[in-house]
Amino acid sequence: MADASAAHEVDSEFYQPASRFFPSHGNTALTYDDVTLATLYTEILPKESQIDTRLAEGLHLNIPLVSSDMDTVTEARMAIAMALNGGLGLIHYNMPEKEQLSEVSRVKNHVHGLIQDPIRVHPEQHIGDVLELIEKKRFSFSTFPVVDATGTLLGLLPGHVVKPRYAHRKVSEALTPRAQVRTISERELGSDPIARADRFFTENLGIHKLLVVDDQDRLQGLFTLSDIERITQETGAALKPARDSTFRLLCGAAISTVRHKDGSIDRDRVIGHVGALIDRGVDCVAVSTAHGHSRGVGEVVKMVRDAFARLPIIAGNVTSAAGVEFLASNGANVIKVGQGPGSICTTRVVAGVGIPQLTALYITSRAAATCGVTLLADGGITKSGDVVKALTLAQGVICGGLFAGCPEAPGQIVEINGKLYKQYRGMGSHAAMKAGSAARYGHSADNTRKAAAEGIEALKEVAASLDSVVGQLIGGIQSGMGYLGAINLASLRDRARYIQVSPAGQKEASPHDVIEVKTSSGSGDKA
Ligand code: XMP
Repeated sequence: MADASAAHEVDSEFYQPASRFFPSHGNTALTYDDVTLATLYTEILPKESQIDTRLAEGLHLNIPLVSSDMDTVTEARMAIAMALNGGLGLIHYNMPEKEQLSEVSRVKNHVHGLIQDPIRVHPEQHIGDVLELIEKKRFSFSTFPVVDATGTLLGLLPGHVVKPRYAHRKVSEALTPRAQVRTISERELGSDPIARADRFFTENLGIHKLLVVDDQDRLQGLFTLSDIERITQETGAALKPARDSTFRLLCGAAISTVRHKDGSIDRDRVIGHVGALIDRGVDCVAVSTAHGHSRGVGEVVKMVRDAFARLPIIAGNVTSAAGVEFLASNGANVIKVGQGPGSICTTRVVAGVGIPQLTALYITSRAAATCGVTLLADGGITKSGDVVKALTLAQGVICGGLFAGCPEAPGQIVEINGKLYKQYRGMGSHAAMKAGSAARYGHSADNTRKAAAEGIEALKEVAASLDSVVGQLIGGIQSGMGYLGAINLASLRDRARYIQVSPAGQKEASPHDVIEVKTSSGSGDKA
């Protein structure tokens, strides 16, 4: 019987591996929609494909997705959600250093299912104050731990006494006293706090809240039965969280090329900042700039590498082989590729530079292979099919716009004409540069008005939860891998065969000639 997996010579004539396809299109820069991937004989079901990726020694993700270090995309809440899904969030640096450190701590100290900073009330308050608080903050719950000024647990205010008829009563009169409140010491939580809490709720009929205390009986957190039930129900389908060797969620942070007034790099500040991030447990830093193939970025990467030999360093952005070699030779492990593909970027319009993303990825992947570094495809991802194409050349992708509409992204929801939106802005927009990202674009913070903005301020329609958006993306990646017979991402890179698509072919690729009543774009945007 013929070997069903053998390449047919007619196919090979048209569907070419990267090493033949891209050089043969050497005079045209191509991006995601310009190409399509050929299907190959498969014995792999999509759900069997493995999508974990090793970005650097000590930086291993269970899914190849990273949330962008932008001030409208990644703070602690997004980074926690990314890591819980198996990916990585890069906390942006448009905030005071101290605040960024706290954001990192929030991620590293996060225990899934544990509300670490529960809303608490004090014994001297009246029930009326508590009702006011609930109304003001629109809480959907009415049971609160009661603590004294030192945070020591005094009891639990049960929901059934938080009623207007008791408004003039003091919390101290209404609380269930400490001795009757069920608690667990934080030391007892072990390596799987969810399983521990789950067991507790099973063993203790009718109890819905479990308070966590430290050795001094100070309140450290709260489990609720409903959260635990939701999490345990999801466990079968959920992706494995990305954790460090001590079981904490992974977290990255962006750092800036801080300069003295004379333009030289402020070594003390850079190293002090990175040292403080490491003390908080950060797993990698990202030297994020618009032009990574530049002296200043090289200097910062080298300074950080010399000071912290084992810290994974992500650096960029570049779109050339020389850029990859430069950053790798200075000590970067992971290179961000992308100049101008982002949904809010105007670099190509303003500066006339930048390379469409797939060609940029191919060129940089050639250098990455020889330098022993990995690549993150940064920007321009609008649907899961783009991720599959990016992963044929890179070890992971960075998304901004796709995640900016999720509730986990920072920023308020605004309503316009009955539709809900969240703000999404380029880090090179005037507003973001003023808030701190000017150095990323080679400007100083005090003259951003005069600098040409390389990003816009925009709105994203509010999207589903990050879990659901990531779920859609992963589904698409695994479908693509199934079509290519790729059991893992290395095999996807190896097996990918490309062909250019005509404008009519691009039109054919999306739904057409129908009236769409329900979107399922694969972008996850409206999962
Ligand atoms: P997406 O397409 O995911 O892109 O929204 C996010 C990526 O875009 C980059 N970025 C910018 N590029 N001007 C630019 O030219 C900007 O103002 C800007 N802000 C972000 C960044 O690499 C991000 O991850």
